[in-house]
Amino acid sequence: MTHVPGLGVIGGGIWARHHMNAVRDLEHEGRARLVAMASKTEETRDRMTAEYGIDGTIDYRELLGRPDIQAVSIVTPDHLHREMAVAAMEAGKHVIVEKPMDLTVEGCREMIRVARERKVLLFVDFHKRYDSVHQKAREFILQGKLGAIQYGYAYMEDKIVVPRDWFPKWAASSSPFWFIGVHQVDLLRWSMKSEVKAVSGHGFRGKLDSLGIPAFDAVHATLEFDNGSVFTIDISWILPDNFEALVNQGMRILGSEGILEIDTQDRGFQGCWTGDKFQTYNVNSAHAVRTRDGGRRHSGYFIEPIKDFMGMVGELVNGRGLDEIGEEYPGGEDGLQATRVALAVHRSIDEGKTVRLDEDVQGRTT
Ligand SMILES: NC(=O)c1ccc[n+]([C@@H]2O[C@H](COP(=O)([O-])OP(=O)(O)OC[C@H]3O[C@@H](n4cnc5c(N)ncnc54)[C@H](O)[C@@H]3O)[C@@H](O)[C@H]2O)c1
Repeated sequence: MTHVPGLGVIGGGIWARHHMNAVRDLEHEGRARLVAMASKTEETRDRMTAEYGIDGTIDYRELLGRPDIQAVSIVTPDHLHREMAVAAMEAGKHVIVEKPMDLTVEGCREMIRVARERKVLLFVDFHKRYDSVHQKAREFILQGKLGAIQYGYAYMEDKIVVPRDWFPKWAASSSPFWFIGVHQVDLLRWSMKSEVKAVSGHGFRGKLDSLGIPAFDAVHATLEFDNGSVFTIDISWILPDNFEALVNQGMRILGSEGILEIDTQDRGFQGCWTGDKFQTYNVNSAHAVRTRDGGRRHSGYFIEPIKDFMGMVGELVNGRGLDEIGEEYPGGEDGLQATRVALAVHRSIDEGKTVRLDEDVQGRTT
């Protein structure tokens, strides 16, 4: 008999919906079940449980005691990931945790250790790996088409709506680098199969401070990789409200034999009509279509990692071993490395000097 794994989602905010939509799709295919969710407030619990037709609680530990839940999504503010992931894994649940995995090296290490001890899957939602554009770029890089990678530039900038309106309560415990810079770090490490060895960073403040949110507006960082390449990363989350899209992003990579120019912003789909401004639509990120049965199916790189995770959980609950599902997914060590780099960038901003990761920030988990 095939076992169908059940998911519990901790968090009922903006990003939790992607987890729920992804697994609801799998439910229609008979491959997973969306069982229950937990949020901090009764209001969110009641709204989300009514919308998705699932159980709900305001005590996330209730999800961890349920035998019909084999996997847990952790989609709560960054500083809560560690406690919840450790508790879930201690309860024997497979875990997908939002990025950043944790804001400390020690926290990431604890999560990796518990996953190993409990023999459960620990997956970090670095969804940029699931954008087909990035997958193709990585293929070219690892095939050696660009020769030795020498330098490059990556940028990602959110509209100010993100720290100001989405999560003003916890934006101050995050930063643009923690929120979106870690995506670029993971993308570059994964694309080149190379680790960051040194960083220098500059932080910019003023706009958010003036709105009563004590956080960096932007971070500019230089990352030196083991393979000899140097990348500039520009990250901001204060683009004006009337910017053409929620995000502005792109990348270029140069090597001894070639160049890649990756425009992940203007994908050729823009529009403007009466009552709304000219906008760029990124349907590659999350896209919903109505189906003949009146439901909805979701696709895009926001959705695919969650489906991939749940697919792996399906294999695990049906007898495959962790060592048999391969290592081609963003796991705990990847979360740890992104956290090390983010910590190093912020230390560099504070101290005004280059920070070397091998000397100054703890390394891999052994
Ligand atoms: N992968 C990405 O690109 C991406 C994008 C956006 C957000 N995120 C990450 O997702 C996470 C959530 O972000 P968001 O934008 O949905 O935040 P949000 O503030 O909209 O939602 C947070 C949710 O956590 C819940 N919560 C807080 N404390 C809780 C507790 N003790 N028990 C149960 N629930 C609790 C709140 O009720 C809320 O529903 C963050 O880690 C964020 O960095 C990732």
